[in-house]
Amino acid sequence: MTKVRIAAIGAGNRMNAYSEYALHYPEEMEIVAVVEPNPIRREQYRRRLNISEDCCYNSWEDFFRMPKQADAVFLCTPDDLHYQPALCALEKGYDILLEKPIAQSWRECVEIVAKAKELGRIVGVCHILRYHPYFIKFKEILESGRLGEIISVNHVEAVGIDRMTHAFVRGLWRKREANPMILSKACHDLDLLVWLTGRKCMDVSSYGSLKWFSETNAPQGSTERCIEGCAVEKECPYSALNLYFRQKRWLRHFDIPEGENPEPYILRELKEGPYGRCVYRCDNDVVDHQVVSMLMEGQVTVNFSMEGFTKKGERRTHIMCSNGEIYGDEKTLTVKYFHPAYPDETYDFSAYSGECNFHGGADWSIVADFIKAVREHDASCLRTNIETSLESHRMAFEIERKRRLNMGAVDETFI
Ligand SMILES: NC(=O)c1ccc[n+]([C@@H]2O[C@H](COP(=O)([O-])OP(=O)(O)OC[C@H]3O[C@@H](n4cnc5c(N)ncnc54)[C@H](O)[C@@H]3O)[C@@H](O)[C@H]2O)c1
Repeated sequence: MTKVRIAAIGAGNRMNAYSEYALHYPEEMEIVAVVEPNPIRREQYRRRLNISEDCCYNSWEDFFRMPKQADAVFLCTPDDLHYQPALCALEKGYDILLEKPIAQSWRECVEIVAKAKELGRIVGVCHILRYHPYFIKFKEILESGRLGEIISVNHVEAVGIDRMTHAFVRGLWRKREANPMILSKACHDLDLLVWLTGRKCMDVSSYGSLKWFSETNAPQGSTERCIEGCAVEKECPYSALNLYFRQKRWLRHFDIPEGENPEPYILRELKEGPYGRCVYRCDNDVVDHQVVSMLMEGQVTVNFSMEGFTKKGERRTHIMCSNGEIYGDEKTLTVKYFHPAYPDETYDFSAYSGECNFHGGADWSIVADFIKAVREHDASCLRTNIETSLESHRMAFEIERKRRLNMGAVDETFI
């Protein structure tokens, strides 16, 4: 089997998950270069993947100035660094495994698709849920036809309050000018809804706003940072001191050198970094709750809610069909038939839930398919090639447009 050579661009959280595949299947894939401006991450990644020192780069511009040195790139840079590097990679002759979102505007998304088509390159988009065993079973049951025709869908993306404050209030995805949350968080859900129903979206409407995480709701006695003697820190459900220092959770975007005591690094972040800020005093403007109604082809209707205020993070999906219904919360999948002759079915996926299992193996499955697609020059090996992934992005941009239109009519400051 020919080994596929990969250059890793953006050696953060996602890249580390995908790259683990190379350590387990070295005969299939080798990471030959890394591009990462953060020296700690670059060096840790270089050592882990055994990359030679002269194949390490600070920026994607430096990397693409060099002659082609791999078959494909994994592009896992922040959202605002997908468009330009993706176009450069295509021009330079690389296939791409591209993190979602494809880009930050519809025009940019279409441009990348057109360029890939023109040059005959393979681009996979990391809608990894299509590779998750739970959603695969969901799809398989719907496709079997036993439930009859899909009539309507209720889907909830329960973000989970810790993820909400970490990523969408204090963290990397807090600004709407970078991406509305319906794109950065829910493009996975929109992709699932298209995939599970097997239908494109005809029309949408939406409401939602940033209702809670703003200075007007800051309790008396609270301070700019949780660590600065905040009078309400002990009882605050969003305390950074509690989440990061006492519980040592959500440290994935903290730079803690391997093997070192994390506490001094956490304390420094709490004193100086974005993750130490009071949730009511950040520069965030993405929504904290949003509802969407959609009309899909064939008169199928969808209700979708994206909810920041839930204790756990999970997706709850209920699909009503002509012969029965299917409901799941990512741990259990229940199928109920209307006809009394058919007993209910329950499938248990609890073994796949949790934060640290590479999305139930999906992270590796998408890499395996991408490697095969590159080796065989066949994009159809991928469940989520770029053309398939375009629909969820089209929906996200339109939903955000409608939300702003609707909320603007209610109160300009809510937009
Ligand atoms: N598919 C999924 O389930 C999923 C989940 C989370 C995030 N994401 C997406 O993956 C991407 C990366 O997210 P992450 O959580 O790994 O973030 P991250 O911050 O951990 O990783 C991004 C890395 O890119 C590096 N970088 C910044 N500028 C760069 C440049 N000019 N050249 C090269 N590298 C540069 C950063 O230093 C960082 O190490 C984002 O687009 C995000 O939306 C996808």
